[in-house]
Amino acid sequence: MGRIRLNRKANANVLDLTNPPADFIEDPYPYYRRLRELSPLLAQPDGSYLVASHQALDSIYKDTRRFSSDKKSAFKPRFGDSPLYEHHTTSLVFNDPPLHTRVRKIMVGAMTPRAIAGMETALVVLVDTLLDELPTHTQNNELDIVTHYASQIPLNVIGNLFDMPLDEREPLRDWSLAILGALEPTISPEEKMAGDMAVVAFCDYLEKLVADRKRHPGDPETDVLTRLIQTEGEKLSQIELLQNCIFTLNAGHETTTNLIANALNSLHENPDEKQRLLNQDTIITTAIDELLRFESPNQLGNRMTTEPVSLLGKTIPEGCNLHLMIGAANRDSAVFEEGERLNLTRAPNKHLAFAGGPHSCLGLNLARMEGRIAIGRFLARYPNYRVTKQVRSHRLRFRGFTQLNLSLGD
Ligand code: HEM
Repeated sequence: MGRIRLNRKANANVLDLTNPPADFIEDPYPYYRRLRELSPLLAQPDGSYLVASHQALDSIYKDTRRFSSDKKSAFKPRFGDSPLYEHHTTSLVFNDPPLHTRVRKIMVGAMTPRAIAGMETALVVLVDTLLDELPTHTQNNELDIVTHYASQIPLNVIGNLFDMPLDEREPLRDWSLAILGALEPTISPEEKMAGDMAVVAFCDYLEKLVADRKRHPGDPETDVLTRLIQTEGEKLSQIELLQNCIFTLNAGHETTTNLIANALNSLHENPDEKQRLLNQDTIITTAIDELLRFESPNQLGNRMTTEPVSLLGKTIPEGCNLHLMIGAANRDSAVFEEGERLNLTRAPNKHLAFAGGPHSCLGLNLARMEGRIAIGRFLARYPNYRVTKQVRSHRLRFRGFTQLNLSLGD
């Protein structure tokens, strides 16, 4: 991949998202670089555009009037009248003001800094318990860190946020993978069916949980579900409540799993930076943001133009689907000096891993805390770990591993 030659005449072929080159999943960064350098606004065969410049993404995220998040017209032909359609068009992330503003205000109130800070002690206990148990999962001197560590942390953090019984959390990850998987640029009929079934199963489960919580309310200061229920009727309908709970449970899941596994992999591949962090653990906060920039768990977002817009020297028609290439923008040399290099003390670091503007990630402080504790405590316990096997997830929207084997070292 490193041998790609920059051919200005061939820019139309840099990348077709519905048919990406075989090596794109493994290493998308040379393609992103070509996009930025040759065509930061690239037309796709289906009339949509890829946007790869940081400055353009930043301004698009801030302008909800001209760049809509509402996916009803885009998802109708894709999902028809189906559980996936109802879910994805009811969640706040795929709506515009005023609906988005109303739901977001309620959700922000439910995820206060106090509620998040209150989770830190339990999170440290959870992480330390998982770290203690890692050697018991080792076979032939290696273990899969996604299964035994990276996915377990968000699963339990999100479960705690909604105060879900411990023995009911296991299906969450598969539901979330099936529902978010349906957002990939192309999906098979089987993947659509799996997504629909997951929405139905998740809704059934949540209906029972909500009914039970109504009978036995928790502390609204710490239990997000109780807090959301208490605004039901007044501001959130039952459907909005269920679908936004599903979205939040999903949003915090695969993304954070990937943050943790990507971070361990990036540190392994950048031993000098890993050593800096080992020598000086106080840089962990800037390190997590840099790891989020360098290998962003969420690589793609979408917006639809609501009127003809002028963007990067071209005029884009109304109703045009824009693919916001977060992974490309986060290495843009116009904003990041030596953007292709991992620099754990990078500051400022205006990465877009959590997007920006009114839809910026609602869980960003929770995710940062999870990353800080998961990576900081892992390194302190197993400083000599080595990656022994990588199996990439084949998703374009979410960058991560389905399996990442490590040897824990001496
Ligand atoms: C490393 C972990 C995470 C990453 C990289 C991430 C990334 C993102 C991004 C890029 C968006 C914007 C989507 C768009 O508008 O196009 C978003 C929105 C959102 N995220 Fe996260 N997220 C993470 C963790 C979490 C967690 C832990 C939660 C909650 C528990 C969460 C809840 C949300 C919600 C509710 C939204 C919708 C906000 C809105 O539309 O107003 N996320 N996230």
